[in-house]
Amino acid sequence: MSNLIVPASASVTRRSFLSTSSKIAGTAAALSTLPVERFVHGASPGDTIKVALIGMGGRGSGAANQALSTGESVKLVAVADVHKDRMDGSLAQLAKAHKDKVAVKDENKFMGFDAYKKAIAQADLVILATPPGFRPMQFEEAVRQGKHVFMEKPVCVDVAGYKKVIAAAAEAKKKNLKVGVGLQRHHQAGYIETIKRIHDGQLGDIQAMRAYWNGNTPWVKPRADLEKTYGRKLTELEYQMRNWYYFVWLCGDHICEQHIHNLDVINWVKKGHPVKARGNGGCETRKGKDYGEIFDHHVVEFEYEDGSVCFSQCRHQLGCWNDVSEHAIGTKGVANLGRYTFTGENKWRYQGGGKDPYQQEHDDLFDAIRNDKPYNEAEYGANSSMTSVLGRMATYSGKEITWEDAMKSNLDTMVKGIDQVSWEEAIKLAPPSSPGEDGMYQLPIPGKTRFI
Ligand SMILES: NC(=O)c1ccc[n+]([C@@H]2O[C@H](COP(=O)([O-])OP(=O)(O)OC[C@H]3O[C@@H](n4cnc5c(N)ncnc54)[C@H](O)[C@@H]3O)[C@@H](O)[C@H]2O)c1
Repeated sequence: MSNLIVPASASVTRRSFLSTSSKIAGTAAALSTLPVERFVHGASPGDTIKVALIGMGGRGSGAANQALSTGESVKLVAVADVHKDRMDGSLAQLAKAHKDKVAVKDENKFMGFDAYKKAIAQADLVILATPPGFRPMQFEEAVRQGKHVFMEKPVCVDVAGYKKVIAAAAEAKKKNLKVGVGLQRHHQAGYIETIKRIHDGQLGDIQAMRAYWNGNTPWVKPRADLEKTYGRKLTELEYQMRNWYYFVWLCGDHICEQHIHNLDVINWVKKGHPVKARGNGGCETRKGKDYGEIFDHHVVEFEYEDGSVCFSQCRHQLGCWNDVSEHAIGTKGVANLGRYTFTGENKWRYQGGGKDPYQQEHDDLFDAIRNDKPYNEAEYGANSSMTSVLGRMATYSGKEITWEDAMKSNLDTMVKGIDQVSWEEAIKLAPPSSPGEDGMYQLPIPGKTRFI
């Protein structure tokens, strides 16, 4: 096994749970009759906010830990996942850390692709932390049921998902629901101060920006290891669910899953999203049956309404120059945003402290719920997710793609009806891609692939 490969065991490890938390410190008819929209006008200090966790992997477990750490009156009351091993592992970790706050009765542990609907019904606030392909349908349902939401990034992996999230975000606003999105740099004191100063004009006019996420390959779950662990052949859909990072309908490619953090910072600086993207990408070094259909690098130039550009790179290749950063180049100086520094006319370095942004984002969301403060991060979360999708469209197709043209795409990559049937039936459904006879997946071919 190479050092890139993590064991097929899919349970939440203590390390993944702690690293996220310590790194930074029925039927539709039945559901519609449930009492909804509790705490839409604030809560009394003693009122318990009931939380449901949907998607109980590393980040979902971390987010639940952070939600339960926001104060005394919060309880985890329902959970949903499609894999029992992940559910059991996550619940054990959470119960260890928050003995009195984990109150999940057996009847509120829901399994399967429709489990989210049932878990949402039990809660005041839901945490959505499945692979991102499922986010639009789950966010839409949470808003329909009148629940506050914390959802991880990215919030969509295609244009159909983007439109769904934008519509549900507007509905959430109407219902006064609070929505947090896991783009935690927005809750990181140094970023907040740095970007405030850029908006105050300390760098002059921003003419160009750089955004990088060049790093190593993340986890991979080889089919052979999975089949050995589970002692049977997996259906194609089951396999892709376990190895979700490498499939567009689930992950969106790493330009969406990871690089979104950097592109989101650039959008924050620009107070908007790009109007077009052009770029190059491919898969040079990360080849093999278990690496699915995504690229190992994307290099994109995003252009904003005012003509300014952002040069973006994201790469998963070993032995190369690595950097995760954002820079803004203005007429008066240059900012290294993640280092909170300016060079040039108004040389500056942030000296303040700051809390773990993963905890801060939950503290802020719960404060907004308890004190009825306006709070809806879904729209910018969707725009930043769509920025990543736009970049992918440009690199997969090799074409210049405008935001306007992208919006004409109605391609919905989610497997139709996946949450309408039993698990046994769902895993027999065909995912959008399947391997050829040699076990390899077809990668996009710039110049030939239509943008998706
Ligand atoms: N904000 C951050 O810094 C950050 C960090 C890591 C991950 N994330 C995001 O969090 C999300 C989850 O990532 P992760 O690393 O925890 O992945 P993971 O694979 O560890 O966990 C995903 C969980 O969702 C479950 N699941 C899959 N499909 C489901 C469905 N339809 N319904 C219910 N459960 C389902 C899986 O069984 C698994 O338990 C991703 O969107 C990822 O990008 C954000």
